[in-house]
Amino acid sequence: MRKERCLLHPLLALLVLMSCLCIRCVQAAVSLPPEDRPLVRHYYKKHNTCSSVEAFVRHQVKLLWDKDQTITPKLLRLLYSDCMPNGCEASILLDGPHSEKTAPQNSGLGGFVVIDKIKTVLENRTECKGVVSCADILNLATRDALFFAGAPSYPVLLGRRDGFESNSAAVDLPSSSISWESALAYFNSKKLDVQDMATLLGAHTMGRTHCRYILDRLYNFNNTGKPDPSMKKSFLDEMRKQCPPKVKQGQHDPLVLLNPRNPNYKFSNSYYSVVQNNESVLGVDQQLLYGDDTNQLTQEFNVSLEDFRKAFALSINRMGGLKVLTGNNGEIRRNCRFTNKNNPNIK
Ligand SMILES: *[C@@H]1O[C@H](CO)[C@@H](O)[C@H](O)[C@H]1NC(C)=O
Ligand SMILES: *[C@@H]1O[C@H](CO)[C@@H](O)[C@H](O)[C@H]1NC(C)=O
Ligand SMILES: *[C@@H]1O[C@H](CO)[C@@H](O)[C@H](O)[C@H]1NC(C)=O
Ligand SMILES: *[C@@H]1O[C@H](CO)[C@@H](O)[C@H](O)[C@H]1NC(C)=O
Repeated sequence: MRKERCLLHPLLALLVLMSCLCIRCVQAAVSLPPEDRPLVRHYYKKHNTCSSVEAFVRHQVKLLWDKDQTITPKLLRLLYSDCMPNGCEASILLDGPHSEKTAPQNSGLGGFVVIDKIKTVLENRTECKGVVSCADILNLATRDALFFAGAPSYPVLLGRRDGFESNSAAVDLPSSSISWESALAYFNSKKLDVQDMATLLGAHTMGRTHCRYILDRLYNFNNTGKPDPSMKKSFLDEMRKQCPPKVKQGQHDPLVLLNPRNPNYKFSNSYYSVVQNNESVLGVDQQLLYGDDTNQLTQEFNVSLEDFRKAFALSINRMGGLKVLTGNNGEIRRNCRFTNKNNPNIK
């Protein structure tokens, strides 16, 4: 079965091969989900339009990353928030009073200006004007920001088109204190598997979160009036210092590192040793030790950065291919914040 799948997807042969080699014990998908078959490598080159889009995007991301390394976790979260609820069609980028970016789960999203900048540069080039989708830009920019942070430069399949709708009511992203079973059910409902879950959660190896998302773990876990028993005591004390039970009047909700061992926005596997030490910041991360498969992968990724890098490239591609619009579906937006119909600059 595996062999067959490897042959079916020659474009991803490299990724597939790496995946076949690295995941020893967990039965996991080694190919892309069925929806993204229409995507191809070098889509724009093949269509003789904006052939150098990958170089343009990488150049812009480098300029922006040099100034602000936080764009890596921001873009990663943006891609996740776009793809998981209803597919990678750039609906998260649309502005509007009831758009997805206004949903409570999406509060604090960033990275929009990175996409705006890249889109402006592309629209300003004759060969790229009206050609490259915002959904493809988001996938490419995330790949490149990850690359500058130390991740492998995996191939991104292209040819997505942009969606027409963005509705905050459609945002089904789960809370960060979700149980292992519910987290897996959520990933499975998107056609992603247990390995994708264990791998993509590794994105929490960088970035920050607000205290309000972990107050329940620190003070009133699952309405027990006690802290989450899976937290190491010394770590609990430290986090309680950083996140007091109530924000003082006039102060902002503090930000804490998702991975206290990685303050520098580097792509690394230290997240998995944090999980193994019962020092995860988010409940969903600590739950990785709970399932046999995810526990095994946590051990594997802790020991081997290489395995994690390869698995990450595969899973992020699988996520980037969820429910994409291709062919005559969707459109190519001229400004990522508006559908063309609602774009004030298009008459
Ligand atoms: C658009 O392209 C022109 C000519 O290459 C350049 O001078 C100008 O600065 C560009 N504008 C933007 C917004 O990138
Ligand atoms: C919280 O408690 C409920 C009911 O007591 C239980 O079903 C659920 O699994 C618990 N959640 C976590 C994350 O432990
Ligand atoms: C982490 O918690 C698990 C389950 O409570 C325990 O078996 C393990 O020894 C703990 N590990 C460390 C490093 O504290
Ligand atoms: C995690 O990996 C580090 C470095 O390879 C190793 O020293 C440590 O023992 C590992 N932790 C566990 C719990 O296996």
